[in-house]
Amino acid sequence: MSSTSLAYLESLARNYAVKAVMSDKEGNYADAINYYKRAIEVLEKILQLYPDHSLNGMYKQWISEYRRRISELDGLLGRVRVPASRVSEGLEDADSFFEVLEKPSINFSDVADMENVKEVIKESIIFPSKRPDVFPLGWPRGILLFGPPGCGKTYIAAAIAGEVDGYFINVDAADIMSKWLGEAEKRVSKLFAKARELAKAGKPVIIFIDEVDSLFGMFETEVGGEVRVRNQFLKEMDGLDSKINPKQLVFVIAATNKPWRLDEAFIRRFQKRIYVPLPSREARIAILKMYSRSLKLDPSVDLEKLSDMLDGYTSSDIAEIVAAAHMRTVRELFESTGGRGEPRPIRMEDFAEVVKYRKPSVNKEMVKVFEMWYEKYKAL
Ligand SMILES: Nc1ncnc2c1ncn2[C@@H]1O[C@H](COP(=O)(O)OP(=O)(O)OP(=O)(O)O)[C@@H](O)[C@H]1O
Ligand SMILES: [Mg+2]
Repeated sequence: MSSTSLAYLESLARNYAVKAVMSDKEGNYADAINYYKRAIEVLEKILQLYPDHSLNGMYKQWISEYRRRISELDGLLGRVRVPASRVSEGLEDADSFFEVLEKPSINFSDVADMENVKEVIKESIIFPSKRPDVFPLGWPRGILLFGPPGCGKTYIAAAIAGEVDGYFINVDAADIMSKWLGEAEKRVSKLFAKARELAKAGKPVIIFIDEVDSLFGMFETEVGGEVRVRNQFLKEMDGLDSKINPKQLVFVIAATNKPWRLDEAFIRRFQKRIYVPLPSREARIAILKMYSRSLKLDPSVDLEKLSDMLDGYTSSDIAEIVAAAHMRTVRELFESTGGRGEPRPIRMEDFAEVVKYRKPSVNKEMVKVFEMWYEKYKAL
């Protein structure tokens, strides 16, 4: 087995986990259970295929954490009506490959730092939606988020949905692709048709395409398939031009951690290209604060010092490190009292222990590759 398939499984597990947590937060418990289960399946696959992988200890913790949450949610599902935060259109037909969301429960205040992204979203989407008349030159319709895995692209997209008063169509590029000849480009045009239809109400419509690089190079068996999908996509993007369609508020936000798989024509359609880098020192402090907000910290914990220890770690690494440090106190509680009482506060040494066994999930060379790509294509 190659390390790429390990990386693939890990990113798959992470994506399911993110979707699970997002659905969970939105109160879509049935979806959350489904995604937690899928995440568990993938994590178990990793444990089985790569028994010596250094992160297996953590993955085992996740699995038990997700199982616990599934049983809690199973209980909730019986009693509580699942809030209908989704518009049912788009979900009804069986072949639907996207979902239309209205108001998820997270917004920008749940996103630590990432000020550059928040700023661009305000200037490109929120202001033009409120006052199109003060934008005689039009506004960008395409925004590309790129950067190393686990640094918040998918996460901030969910927050954008909570921030913008309008519709948010969530689609995974891999779901657009189909093994049926010609089906994928039909899906692309269906997607944009749906967006234009929703936009008639005068509110902004955002199409969010996650893992957009999968639109490229998925058709190893269908000669020319990816070219047709890409061309259909370019055509649809051109149709959104604010000079052609001055009143229509349809935006496309795409995210990728493999921007070099995209081609020039495609990149050009995204007038805004935003690098979502590893978190800075300030961002790491903010993320640490955010994730430890609901936990008890011992006075020995120095978040500034901790954030220096976490230089090079991704946002999701940091979130996981906080969870793992907390887990040490929970484990102790169960070992000492069988689970009665409260866990003790988390100490600096808990963090130090966790960090000792957990390497950053992105290495420096990888970061350089992103920076080089950014140098070439930046547009801000
Ligand atoms: N700025 C942030 N504030 C708070 N939490 C964050 C932030 N960025 C990332 N996270 C946490 O990290 C997790 C992973 O981030 P996310 O899935 O958005 O990364 P990504 O950039 O989409 O990665 P990939 O390229 O692998 O898809 C999120 O679910 C969230 O818990
Ligand atoms: Mg993502």
